[in-house]
Amino acid sequence: MTAPATLNVQYAQAHRRMTELNTQNLVDTFEADAHACAAGPEQDQGIQAVSRISEALASHDKPERLMEILLRAALESAGAGQGALVLLRSGVWQLSASAQMINGSIVVKQEPGPFTRHLLPVSLVHAVARTREGVAMDDAHASPAYAQDAYLRSKCPRSVLCLPLTRASTLVGVLYLENTEVRGAFTAAKQALLKVIASQAAFALETARLHEELVEQNQQRARTEEQLRSALADLDRASRLNAMGELVASIVHEVGQPLAAVDTSAIAALRWLNRSPPDIDEARAMLTHIGVSAARARGIIHSMRAKARKAEPQFATLDLCNALREASALVAVQLDALKVSLELRGLNGCMQVRGDRIQLQQVVINLLMNGAESMAARDSDRRLVLACSIQDDVVCVTVDDLGSGIAPEIAHRLHEPLFTTKESGMGMGLAISHSIVDAHGGKLTLSAREGVGTRATFTLPRLGY
Ligand SMILES: Nc1ncnc2c1ncn2[C@@H]1O[C@H](COP(=O)(O)OP(=O)(O)O)[C@@H](O)[C@H]1O
Ligand SMILES: [Mg+2]
Repeated sequence: MTAPATLNVQYAQAHRRMTELNTQNLVDTFEADAHACAAGPEQDQGIQAVSRISEALASHDKPERLMEILLRAALESAGAGQGALVLLRSGVWQLSASAQMINGSIVVKQEPGPFTRHLLPVSLVHAVARTREGVAMDDAHASPAYAQDAYLRSKCPRSVLCLPLTRASTLVGVLYLENTEVRGAFTAAKQALLKVIASQAAFALETARLHEELVEQNQQRARTEEQLRSALADLDRASRLNAMGELVASIVHEVGQPLAAVDTSAIAALRWLNRSPPDIDEARAMLTHIGVSAARARGIIHSMRAKARKAEPQFATLDLCNALREASALVAVQLDALKVSLELRGLNGCMQVRGDRIQLQQVVINLLMNGAESMAARDSDRRLVLACSIQDDVVCVTVDDLGSGIAPEIAHRLHEPLFTTKESGMGMGLAISHSIVDAHGGKLTLSAREGVGTRATFTLPRLGY
């Protein structure tokens, strides 16, 4: 889209060009036509009149003003008692202005409206428009050609002059003049003079119309631009709201896990304290766990807000095995409550990767909880295996379960935010995990295991590769 500033420049250039053309044309036409029309004693008067009108027309660009100049000049130069200007506006003929000589002065009326047979000789105006030839009558009501015209019959004007207004090959309108008292008022010299005036007025009026069209187009473009701008602002607001919604959903989901851990640990701590004698060591361990979970919830909120703000991720070199061991300890109490056992493989050593420790722990906790939940319907042998290995240039983390597996028809939807098959599921875990792994340059996939269950795998680039 063109910027408004450029539009204005284009517009100003077009406007200047049209004004130049207008003035130049009027001067040219004036010189050519003045010589052609003026002959005999009225020559000087004619040249002066045309000169005055040319100047007047050239110094205005409002159609209303131009119409007034034309009608005044026409009535004055021709000695007409009444005149009217019919213009073609968007394909429709319209009585645009009329003028009348009242007590020696000209009164111009500009109330555009339909031109009817009560106001003008419709058949005469149409004939002039069609043939583009002027018609002059010395005694109109005696003319057989227009004996049928309702206006001429009722108004009985004596002299009538009707001229086409054309610019190049374009018909701009029709000028109608009458004198109700004098026969033969419009002499050949006056007709010639009026033709010159008409051709100059046609030029000025058409230029003014094009000018207005340009202004209208310019305004239309400005309106469209404004609409587009506000639509974009709406879209921006909507996508920010959307991002807020996602942030809230993500936080609710991710913080849910440490909160549940706090709950479970608090119940366990009370149980240890209610024993007699109370087991202080176990209770202390549970309270420590509560503290760790609360700190974790804070960490998750902090990291998710940074992610929503699209802040540069704070990656550091970390030991993935250590982070995974810690994550499994964080869910231990919850897995216990679900009667799920967890086996760790390949986590004893040290595996350096670059990343955000809290986010990577979120991923593995989501995968472990999904695995555990998939085995809810199983009566026994609820086993999970969390393993870490190196494959070529990537570090590979897998979570295997013995659960319900994934139906092929939903496999492609698992990463969609809010997609869930669980009654109280949120459908955010895999969507969040997917975007975290993605930001770490890795891949997250879920696949069917041979026999029973699902394997969730995520990879991370190996350091130094
Ligand atoms: N280990 C798995 N076994 C079977 N289905 C799974 C497993 N992990 C994820 N799914 C499927 O993917 C869906 C989306 O998972 P997730 O994004 O974590 O949301 P939620 O756990 O809240 O449903 C689950 O509802 C479930 O249908
Ligand atoms: Mg889940």
